[in-house]
Amino acid sequence: MVTLIDGKAASKKLRVELAREVETLAQGDQHVALAVVRVGDDPASEVYVRNKRRACARAGIRAVEHHLPGDTSQPALETLVDGLNEDPEVHGVLVQLPLPAHLDEAAVIDRILPQKDVDGFHPDNMGRLALGRPRYVPCTALGVLHLLKHYEVVIAGQRAVVVGRSQIVGKPVAALLTRENATVTLCHSKTRALDREVAEADILVAALGRPEFIRGDWIRPGATVIDVGINRLPDGRLVGDVEFATASSRAGAITPVPGGVGPMTVAFLMHNTIMAAKAATLRHRAPV
Ligand code: GUN
Repeated sequence: MVTLIDGKAASKKLRVELAREVETLAQGDQHVALAVVRVGDDPASEVYVRNKRRACARAGIRAVEHHLPGDTSQPALETLVDGLNEDPEVHGVLVQLPLPAHLDEAAVIDRILPQKDVDGFHPDNMGRLALGRPRYVPCTALGVLHLLKHYEVVIAGQRAVVVGRSQIVGKPVAALLTRENATVTLCHSKTRALDREVAEADILVAALGRPEFIRGDWIRPGATVIDVGINRLPDGRLVGDVEFATASSRAGAITPVPGGVGPMTVAFLMHNTIMAAKAATLRHRAPV
């Protein structure tokens, strides 16, 4: 019988623990705050930011929202980021992506203070992760690893195949699994014979953003399948990057879409923000 990996339940448990940590910090007069910047009116970003706002409210974290018009200039956006970097009452700074096409996304991410980059997208944080000395790790990647550990999936020595090489998911997941001593293959849209690579996976992480691209009959019997994809079909249904119906008859454990990795991402954003608040407390403590 296949195990359904329940991200909703796992994230609920984590969120309770995080809310407790926020409460403890508040008792020491440290009020955790996350700044969320959105530019323009991308409908998906609006939904993501709403989810982040709700998660902050539930955790007791103050959300400082900045919604800028779609024609905001690069200097204006960077000035806002500079101000948030300097604000001691803001612990995490997140600029929702994608930005409108006229803006230089990389330059904006580079501008966020690495100590406040709770998305983990700054080159400093990505570099640290690549070196095996992580500080802030991208939230979805943390969510994937947490689900594997929560379900006691053996990682060390196993063959892990990650499909998708994005900065947000594929690359950091591959780095985390490597740190956990898996043998990792990082595949992408140009990988030759992807079916054969997938068939080798004890652990498969699908994060390429194409509906049901990975066929169920490619899955190695008994494998653990983590599907990061969330794709809306023309008929309105939400599906992952893996063909769930067939895959779930072969896998040992599999995430549903929705209700798998999705809920973990926001929980780890709260986690990273709390980490940033704690680190700020240590930095600001007067030397003795
Ligand atoms: N857009 C889609 N996912 C993310 C994310 O995790 N962080 C940010 N900042 N933008 C995103």
